[in-house]
Amino acid sequence: MKQKVATIFGGTGFVGRQVVRELAAKGVLVKVATRVPERAYFLKPAGAVGQIVPWAVDYSDDESLSAAIKGSDYVVNCIGILFESGKKANFSKVHTELVSRIGGFCKAHNVERFVHISALGCDRYGSKYAKSKLAGEEAAQDAFEDVCILRPSIIFGEDDGFFNKFAEMSRYMPFLPLIGGGNTKFQPVYVGDVADAVIAALHRKDAKAQIFELGGPEVISFKDVYKKIFKYTGRERGLIVMPFMLAKLQALFMGVLPKPPLTCDQVESLKYDNVLGDDARGLKVLGIKPTAMDVILPTYLESYRQGGRFSELKEA
Ligand SMILES: NC(=O)c1ccc[n+]([C@@H]2O[C@H](COP(=O)([O-])OP(=O)(O)OC[C@H]3O[C@@H](n4cnc5c(N)ncnc54)[C@H](OP(=O)(O)O)[C@@H]3O)[C@@H](O)[C@H]2O)c1
Repeated sequence: MKQKVATIFGGTGFVGRQVVRELAAKGVLVKVATRVPERAYFLKPAGAVGQIVPWAVDYSDDESLSAAIKGSDYVVNCIGILFESGKKANFSKVHTELVSRIGGFCKAHNVERFVHISALGCDRYGSKYAKSKLAGEEAAQDAFEDVCILRPSIIFGEDDGFFNKFAEMSRYMPFLPLIGGGNTKFQPVYVGDVADAVIAALHRKDAKAQIFELGGPEVISFKDVYKKIFKYTGRERGLIVMPFMLAKLQALFMGVLPKPPLTCDQVESLKYDNVLGDDARGLKVLGIKPTAMDVILPTYLESYRQGGRFSELKEA
């Protein structure tokens, strides 16, 4: 039987690298599409010699994009940005226009399956990020009608940008901000479960032309996120309520930084709960049992303990 070939866009990222590893473990030949091939070198040991191929793509060039897809049976798009920077990396270009072009080349090259990672709540929220993600879903569907779309809530796992960010802040800040009162609800989902969902979406017949919402087994508030971090790092901090307006003002100043830790658009997202819809089809339909946060969080948050990973855990 011919070995399957997959192109993973954004395969160097937090979600993409997990997808690359899982596909490699299944014997698939994986092209890790990236702007900087050196960024994908660390993934090579996850496969046999020559099985994981860093693939340079110039996204401004159609030929380069087309070559990354040509010959692949599967394409997964894990590209995303959290803030805009310059003309090339704005939400509309990355989350919408690029998705349309990737979908178009999937169609042109008769790709068997195309899976696109979107974001939970993009159909409900008013942030610029969410609107561009929703437009990206429509662009993917227009270009490739059988596209399977996955909408994860906040994703956790080693290297995540959410729990790690607040755990890092708790190291040097005596008080942490409860933006908007800290009542926004999330349904964090494990990165391994998201990757499993991608694999299921690539293989299951009933995943064609479907949208799945991915959430974990627990709904927690922003305030509870801090509590979990305090529990596993053994470092308790004061919490101060920061109204949305004040958070936006702070984000306005941070916006001048090359990698702003908070943007006005992210503050806007925090006004809406990030939980699965009542009749959402999710991990269960794809045959996946969601992993609890309490199983995974201690495995990487323990490195934030005073004295490091091997120090004794103090009660927070
Ligand atoms: N992480 C979460 O909690 C979360 C929650 C909901 C939805 N999502 C969605 O899940 C997907 C994956 O997220 P992630 O956390 O894995 O993101 P990530 O770690 O930041 O990785 C994003 C990838 O996108 C590529 N990329 C970034 N800017 C680009 C640009 N201007 N042009 C082309 N490629 C670009 C990067 O690849 P190179 O630098 O190698 O080119 C990188 O590997 C995204 O669509 C995101 O919106 C994530």
